[in-house]
Amino acid sequence: MMKVAILGGTGNIGVGLSLRLAVANYSVVVGSRSEDKARKKVEEYNSILNKLGCENRIGFADNSTASKICDITILAIPYKHAFSTAESLREELEGKIVVSPVVPMKKEGNTFVYDPPEEGSAAEKIASILDCSKVVSAFQTVPAKKFSNMNSKFDWDVPVCGDDEKAKKTVMDLVNSIDGLRALNAGPLKSSRLVESITPLLINLAIKNGIYDLSIKFV
Ligand SMILES: NC(=O)c1ccc[n+]([C@@H]2O[C@H](COP(=O)([O-])OP(=O)(O)OC[C@H]3O[C@@H](n4cnc5c(N)ncnc54)[C@H](OP(=O)(O)O)[C@@H]3O)[C@@H](O)[C@H]2O)c1
Repeated sequence: MMKVAILGGTGNIGVGLSLRLAVANYSVVVGSRSEDKARKKVEEYNSILNKLGCENRIGFADNSTASKICDITILAIPYKHAFSTAESLREELEGKIVVSPVVPMKKEGNTFVYDPPEEGSAAEKIASILDCSKVVSAFQTVPAKKFSNMNSKFDWDVPVCGDDEKAKKTVMDLVNSIDGLRALNAGPLKSSRLVESITPLLINLAIKNGIYDLSIKFV
């Protein structure tokens, strides 16, 4: 069973990732800056798994320990803090697969705009920091609210970008293990800028048209 650390697994996108990967038989560890916060969240997650009749249980640890003991680490942390968190975990994440769902964006008036770092995308900046890890990007276009509700049904595509083909395949398998998600190979890590920039579009469409939980499907 592959071990997946979800750093910031206590937050919005972390809920669905933790629950759905546990249901898919990954061994999930929620990482947090606060073990106490993680313990409380994981109690909630495990009670949901129990109600679903799923026997798997989610663990928790501080971000450093979670990164050290897992094969794959998902950086489910707001972009303003994701880079400093990556900096602080360079050693723990050496040689490991690191998944970036991170979307750098800001609000201009009533509109969200893509606001990438000078490296071109959040994923490329994370790869420049974690130059001894295998960085793959995925999940940027998955809306947290619907994803976190285990009664939700959806049929969404998840573009996956990465330069290490083996690591990308491992992450595509992880995405495909979640019911309702289809992983698509979207090319090298530098294509992450194309994927990340879809998210502010989805949010603007949602707000301006009153249709929420938008994601993407290629047909
Ligand atoms: N929300 C969405 O619908 C969605 C969809 C796709 C992708 N994403 C991306 O996923 C990432 C997480 O988004 P989110 O909405 O889940 O974020 P969030 O709920 O606001 O925060 C997630 C977690 O990040 C940790 N965190 C907060 N401030 C931090 C800091 N200063 N340093 C280190 N960790 C900190 C917290 O965990 P602890 O307090 O436990 O450490 C928090 O629970 C973002 O990069 C976002 O762009 C979000």
